Amino acid sequence: MKISGKTRVCGIIGDPVEHSLSPVMHNAAFEELNLDFVYVAFRVRREELGEAIIGARSLNLHGLNVTMPHKNAAMKYLDEIDSTARSIGAVNTILNKEGRLIGYNTDGIGALKALKENGITPKGKKLLLLGAGGAGKAIAFHAAQEAEELVILNRTPQKAKKLAEALRKESNKKINGNAFSIEIMKKELRDADILVNATSVGMHPDVNQSLVSPSLLKPDLCVMDIIYNPLETKLAKDAKAVGAKVVPGIEMLAYQGAASFKIWTNHPAPVKVMKQTALNKLSESGVYY
Ligand SMILES: NC(=O)c1ccc[n+]([C@@H]2O[C@H](COP(=O)([O-])OP(=O)(O)OC[C@H]3O[C@@H](n4cnc5c(N)ncnc54)[C@H](OP(=O)(O)O)[C@@H]3O)[C@@H](O)[C@H]2O)c1
Repeated sequence: MKISGKTRVCGIIGDPVEHSLSPVMHNAAFEELNLDFVYVAFRVRREELGEAIIGARSLNLHGLNVTMPHKNAAMKYLDEIDSTARSIGAVNTILNKEGRLIGYNTDGIGALKALKENGITPKGKKLLLLGAGGAGKAIAFHAAQEAEELVILNRTPQKAKKLAEALRKESNKKINGNAFSIEIMKKELRDADILVNATSVGMHPDVNQSLVSPSLLKPDLCVMDIIYNPLETKLAKDAKAVGAKVVPGIEMLAYQGAASFKIWTNHPAPVKVMKQTALNKLSESGVYY
């Protein structure tokens, strides 16, 4: 990688951020397409977010990814927010367009693309989504436009209900939010086609946890767990064991990254390279998120 005075700088802001997979993924993609870009990680403390974003404009950084805990708070420092990110209420990507900072959210796009690229089309199907946190909201927004029925279950039921209510206003699909309970899960899974786990249950180091009892899983279910550390979660293993189709979280990671890459460079991203680089980095072990 050659850095010159013309090299465009992209990066990720978050806290913590040192274990992010995005720098290796994006730098591999820039190199693959021979683009004069570089991507670095910036640890930004919560109380310094405003200064960091204003500074990014002053330093003429070209693009940023935004991760925990800044996805919501970053919005108020931007000049423009695209309508999808505004509906979701969070940004994970910022483009510096001639000094104007524009916010986007590519999490839901990445999740839906990961499903489709793995042969799973939500159109006409019932999608059961576990989680109404940052990623859950983004996935729900896109799933509500495509699936025939969307059910969102969340530990804090008010969040799932509020999200479902907001989505119902913009969609004519059947959308409901509810609490987690064995009974509700059992009922909703009976006729579900796609199950997406967008909670952090099962993430490293709690790798033996899953919100779904293996007895509720069935061979004709498609399961995507958006957690990518571990690469194969307990839910994914249980789903595979009953013969269900499984999409790992690394797929969503690569496709949400690919969508950010396109926003910054205007080039279709080399997704295969991005995925493989992230996989290699994860396989080296350690805690990544
Ligand atoms: N593959 C990807 O590209 C990608 C992208 C983004 C995130 N992720 C992963 O997705 C996961 C969620 O990320 P996020 O940004 O949405 O986090 P978040 O905003 O903090 O949301 C966490 C979600 O998990 C639920 N939850 C946490 N602990 C729980 C428990 N013990 N029992 C039941 N539910 C629990 C929360 O429920 P409450 O609302 O009740 O707290 C909430 O729905 C993380 O593991 C993250 O690494 C993956």
